[in-house]
This record gives sequence, C-alpha cells and structure tokens, in this order.
Amino acid sequence: TEPLRLGIAGLGTVGIGVVKIIRRHAALLEARTGRPVVISAVCARDASKDRGVSLKDYAWETDPVALATRDDVDVFVELMGGHEGPAKDATQAALAAGKDVVTANKALLAIHGQALAELAESKGSVIRFEAAVAGGIPVIKSLLEGLAGNEITRVMGVMNGTCNYILTRMETSGLPYATVFKEADDLGYLEADPTLDVGGIDAGHKLALLASIAFGTRPAFDDVKLEGIQRIAIEDIRHAADMGYRIKLLGVAQRSARGLEQRMTPCLVPADSPLGQLEGGTNMVVIEGDSIDQVVLRGPGAGEGPTASAVMGDVLDIARGLRIATFGQPAETLEPAPSAQTGLP
Ligand code: NDP
Ligand code: HSE
Repeated sequence: TEPLRLGIAGLGTVGIGVVKIIRRHAALLEARTGRPVVISAVCARDASKDRGVSLKDYAWETDPVALATRDDVDVFVELMGGHEGPAKDATQAALAAGKDVVTANKALLAIHGQALAELAESKGSVIRFEAAVAGGIPVIKSLLEGLAGNEITRVMGVMNGTCNYILTRMETSGLPYATVFKEADDLGYLEADPTLDVGGIDAGHKLALLASIAFGTRPAFDDVKLEGIQRIAIEDIRHAADMGYRIKLLGVAQRSARGLEQRMTPCLVPADSPLGQLEGGTNMVVIEGDSIDQVVLRGPGAGEGPTASAVMGDVLDIARGLRIATFGQPAETLEPAPSAQTGLP
C-alpha cells in the first residue's frame, strides 16, 4: 500500500509532538489506517536547534512554501502559527497544489478559513483543524460525525486554558490579577503576545471556528463580542464565590431570531455546574442539540501530547480516505447579530 507522506512545517511544541507520535506508533498507525504514515520533509527556522528527537531521516526545507509543494508530500501539516506570512502562504500553496492540509492554527482559520476551505474544495483537497479548537478534545469530529444528526442549538465552552488557570489561581490564592498574570508568565503559560490569551482573542478564534462547524456558517471572528479577563478584580472573584458562582471566560454561540450570536466574555457560572467545576488549564465544550439535549466534553486544551493527538486524528482520517468537508461547503450564511447580548443559562 502507498504510504501517506507528510511535510511538517513547524517543529515547536506541537510539531515535535507529532514527530514523536509518528515515530513511537508507526506500527499502530499503519494497523489503524491500512497504510504507513511517514514524514518526507520538515521545516523550521533554525536547522541547528536540538529538538530532542532525531530528524535525520527527513529532508530539511528552509522555505515552508517549498515544503508544502514538494512532490513527495501528500499532506502539508502546518504547525508554525500566525494568521499572515508563512503559515498563510504555505497553506495556500499546498492547497493550490492539490495537497491536503492539517493545521492547529486557529488564528489562520478564524480569519482566512472560508477562503482556504473554498480553495481546498476547488482543488478536491481537504483542510482539517481539530487541534485548533480545544486542543486534545475531539470537538470538531464530534460535531461533524457523532452529532451530525442533530440540529445544534448552542455551543459554549471554556477554550483558553491560560485564562482558566489565572482565574482558578486567583480563587485559590486570593492574589490579584497582576500577580497571578506574572506567575503565569514566569511558568511560560502565556502566548508570546499575552493579549491573545487574556484579551480573549485566542478563545474568540476558537469560538468562531466552533460556531461555524456547529451552525454551518462562515467563520466570523469579527462578529464575536470579545471581552478579556484583564479587568477581573479579586473582589469580583470573592463576591461570585459568596453567591455560589465562579467566573469563567466563557464562549457562547447560539442562533436567535437576530442571527448567529457569538460572544467570549467573563461570565458567572454556578460553582456546582460542569463548567463551574473546571479547574486550572483544562478546557470544556458543551454542545446542545435537538436530539441529544447536552453533551459535555472535557480535557486538555493545549500542550505537546494533547495537541499532537488532535493533529494525528486528522492525519489518520486522511490516511483512511475520509474526506470530510468542514466549513467549505455548504456555507449557510446567518446574519451576524449586531449586538450579541444574550441571556446565559
Ligand atoms: P512554537 O512556537 O512552539 O513552534 C513554532 C514552530 O514554527 C517553530 O519550530 C518555529 O521554528 C517554526 N516557525 C515559525 N516561523 C517559521 C518560518 N517562517 N519558517 C519556518 N518555520 C517557522 O508553536 P506551537 O508548537 O506551540 O504552536 C504551533 C501551532 O499550534 C500554532 O498555530 C498554535 O496556535 C497552535 N496550537 C498550539 C497549542 C499548544 O499547546 N502549544 C495548542 C493548540 C494549538 P524554530 O523552532 O526554528 O524557531
Ligand atoms: N494559549 C492557549 C491556551 C494555547 O491557553 O489555551 C492553546 O490553544
């Protein structure tokens, strides 16, 4: 059988996680898909960096676009990050060349996802991005497959582990936001641009993707009403606790008479509810549908293993020949609600 040949751009936390899974589980992956999954070539900025795993069996490219369009690459795996520049250019080049793409890049997809999916469709390619939403939790797959018989009425969740860590730590330590933010920074939890985390932008990207899958719409990040956690005071946390609530950076997307409403804002949730019991860096996504009532998915939203696990789920679907379209078609367009003020449960 023909191997499925990958080109991996980005050998950081997630990229190296993917390399490790492929090396560790080669036989298992072949048994599960019926064909070997191999790496043809890799790419990162610094060829001399020790990444803790041998890369000598793979061709090295310095240019992500060159990697994405190699003849010996069937699937371009984009794990560099950023919504412009090399990630966008190489993803476009891969799709234009008829390659399939797997990415963990929520920023790229939330902003350019529709155009990329349309390009993929025009070329008969697929673009998959399970890792982009809630890391290791297979939430996109659940919506596209296991829950596909439902009309989805609402999706909500805590999708930024760093914010949940900061809020949880403020509760347990009684320390103010600025001190806990500094702790999180020292622990290396924050994105290079911390506003992506604490400003709710990263979580907003994820919500826009989740909503587009759930409701069959175009990803519309600009229509997500965003508010971060920077202004949460320790007094807010205490008052919430006194009333039996906790504060979570919660994303909600739902249909209403006014269209698709999407918001990612700090919310009070009952402390004894599933969302209220979420601790530390964990993520949770709640999906509500007309036949299932409610499904709650909980798990690790970031990190080498969980994120690489989600990337590999997409790669293995492609190896199996499962060419499932995401939001490329058919894109029902709900009018975004002008003001996403909705009542919470
Ligand atoms: P890292 O910063 O750890 O790694 C990024 C990699 O991309 C590095 O290997 C870097 O090279 C390479 N790179 C950056 N720019 C270029 C370029 N111009 N040309 C070639 N290579 C380049 O990022 P992560 O692994 O954490 O994240 C990757 C993606 O996964 C992002 O889109 C992120 O949002 C997403 N993601 C990450 C999660 C996580 O837990 N880390 C969770 C969910 C999604 P070099 O090493 O040489 O500098
Ligand atoms: N900064 C993100 C988080 C990484 O804290 O959830 C995973 O997407």
